[in-house]
Amino acid sequence: MSGSAVAAGGAPVRLGILLSGRGSNFLAIAHSIRTGRIKGAQIAVVISNVAETGGLKAAQELGLPHALLISRGRKRPEHDAEMIACLQAHQVNLVCLAGYMRLLSPEFVAAFPNSILNIHPSLLPAFPGLDAQAQAFAYGVKVAGCTVHFVDEHLDHGVIILQRAIPVLETDDAHSLADRILVEEHQAYSEAIGKVVSGEYEIRERRFVKCNPLATD
Ligand code: GAR
Repeated sequence: MSGSAVAAGGAPVRLGILLSGRGSNFLAIAHSIRTGRIKGAQIAVVISNVAETGGLKAAQELGLPHALLISRGRKRPEHDAEMIACLQAHQVNLVCLAGYMRLLSPEFVAAFPNSILNIHPSLLPAFPGLDAQAQAFAYGVKVAGCTVHFVDEHLDHGVIILQRAIPVLETDDAHSLADRILVEEHQAYSEAIGKVVSGEYEIRERRFVKCNPLATD
């Protein structure tokens, strides 16, 4: 898995969080780092592309480095170049999209090879794109969930790191389903980051698997 972020030589992996909204996944990651659930990582910077988000406010309150880089009215390559510069200035080696609701340019993806993660509120490849939970509910699925995956040039398409599934209840509506998926998201993202920074996993074809499980020495 060349180019991906691992906790090499004891130095913590530096996470760059990108968000566009309330930031509950970002807060779950921050909590997991504080409590040692994620080892070998620290948050280097939090970037919001939307003004006055809950996520940006929370970063400020936690005393974490943060930046507001508004994307509205900006061309994607120009805005992405600004974000790349900010992430590089903070020496970020693993980018975590946490409710970042804008497509990334191929240039952005190329700037962080195998080092951009996303969380999506469906069991991919089902229901990519916006309002995944409502899409799943309207389709009538019996099992829903979330996916943490590497980001490539295609929407919600990169290699899957892990998924968590929950049953859709008779009593659910789209909102209650989204709420219960979010609880799973908060667990899944920390677990996935932990796996990536551990350096114990690699990408083979489209599979994220333990390195050399059969190796003997
Ligand atoms: C989360 O449900 C996340 O999975 C979703 O946005 C929400 C952000 O919530 N992301 C996507 O749909 C990306 N395609 P949060 O701001 O509370 O973390």
